[in-house]
Amino acid sequence: MVEFFSPTWDDIEEQIFRIARKMATESFYPDVIVAILTGGVIPAKLFADILNMKNIKYIDIKFYRDVNQTDSKPVIRAVYVNDLENKKVLVVDDVSDTGETLEAVTNVISMFSPRLIRTATLYVKPWSRKIPDYFGEQVGKWIIFPWDKWDVVRSNPEAPVAKKEKYFELHEIFSKMKG
Ligand code: PRP
Ligand code: MG
Repeated sequence: MVEFFSPTWDDIEEQIFRIARKMATESFYPDVIVAILTGGVIPAKLFADILNMKNIKYIDIKFYRDVNQTDSKPVIRAVYVNDLENKKVLVVDDVSDTGETLEAVTNVISMFSPRLIRTATLYVKPWSRKIPDYFGEQVGKWIIFPWDKWDVVRSNPEAPVAKKEKYFELHEIFSKMKG
């Protein structure tokens, strides 16, 4: 039986502030943020706004098929980055679970000869083999992020997700259209 943890938007903002404060304390200001698609996009946008910067790049990588079910390795599907040479890079994702995604992404980025790479995730699992340079909190449960809840509830209808009936109704309509 999977245990879920559902942070609210307010919780998310608190983790963002906590991490940003640590960066400020360390006088760390990145030249570029690399957001890990798809879960890292919204945290990356929130960090970019706090840092007052617009320079966000993306790496499209997928590891999980379902709650706690991965492919054998994370698959990098596209790398939307340029101009990282000699730059300070902040990699942003929502969570580091096994740590494999962060590891794969930092390996790819290092090929672009940055000056340094730091990593930030809102949450980290206690068993992760890649502890990010910055994280908000350690959580041992499966995290249902506000931006990920429809993805979770589609294959886990019992998951504690508000308004799921509305989601299922529309999902059915669009599934038929999609064919
Ligand atoms: C999830 C999550 C992280 C990664 C963490 O992404 O958003 O990117 O898994 O897991 P790991 O530390 O075990 O590698 P997922 O592959 O589900 O893709 P998504 O962000 O598009 O949902
Ligand atoms: Mg992800």
